[in-house]
Amino acid sequence: MQQLQGRVAVITGAASGIGLAMAKRFARGGMKLVLADIETAALQRALAEMQALDVQALAVTVDVADAASVERLADAAYARFGAVHLLCNNAGVAAPALLQPTWENSLEDWHWILAVNLMGVVHGVRSFVPRMLAGGDEGHIVNTASVAGLLTGSGPYFASKHGVSCLTEGLYKDLKTAGARLSASVLCPGVIRTQILDAERNRPAQFGGPTDMAKLSERQQQWSAGFRAALEAGIDPAVVADAVHDAVIADRYYIVPAQDEHLERIALRMADIAALCNPTLPVPKG
Ligand code: NAI
Repeated sequence: MQQLQGRVAVITGAASGIGLAMAKRFARGGMKLVLADIETAALQRALAEMQALDVQALAVTVDVADAASVERLADAAYARFGAVHLLCNNAGVAAPALLQPTWENSLEDWHWILAVNLMGVVHGVRSFVPRMLAGGDEGHIVNTASVAGLLTGSGPYFASKHGVSCLTEGLYKDLKTAGARLSASVLCPGVIRTQILDAERNRPAQFGGPTDMAKLSERQQQWSAGFRAALEAGIDPAVVADAVHDAVIADRYYIVPAQDEHLERIALRMADIAALCNPTLPVPKG
């Protein structure tokens, strides 16, 4: 989709981090914005920021884990702007001990992370793509996975992001095969400086509510502290937003703003698969 000016972008998880950076980038490109997030106060601040840039913007509080809530988002977007051209299914969460093995994650962790990260994208595709197809304009869908969607780990975050990368590649093929004027990209960031490690702030009671960090094991707390330091030194979300912007214009499927270490591990995994080798184990740190 080469022309962005005057067209409409919907971004979930738009109140913070990568979503907010994408909103700013597409605002600079002259797009009208629908900002969607579960955190209403932060969303209102993001809306005020966009309005200060003289951008036409609408803010909708949404829970992407809830299909009816996403359907209401689509209704609101179409009622206000009459069309949607760019859909960024970006909202996502992570548990504080992202890398713990399957048998240590609670069922509530599994249900919450799959509901937001995977079903959130499913809901976005189901509520928007039929309307985007019916509109007949060109358009693009960007689903936020992660390098975790190209690498592996046994916990729910990795599983959710693999689901997103699989679904998105299938969506890309389905759209192209159907001759649609829509295309799709998968966004697989590395370590980005955002609030993702504080995602528990948005964990609803039905999924156990925010975890009491003091109750985490020593190993989990150490891992969390290490990951927090890595995030603070991570890539600026504005760099990710630029990469998304350029990929939408160039119709590039893979958007992977990641550290070299991740790119090397992806290449290694792909080589293992092609050679039908057993998975290479990570080199222990320290
Ligand atoms: P963030 O925490 O700064 O932003 C995520 C936004 O999603 C927040 O505004 C939050 O309120 C919103 N959100 C959470 N649950 C929601 C729900 N149920 N419905 C609607 N909105 C909800 O984190 P970040 O990093 O900007 O996350 C954006 C996406 O990027 C996520 O899908 C995340 O998994 C992905 N990602 C992040 C990486 C990083 O290093 N920060 C790396 C790879 C992927």
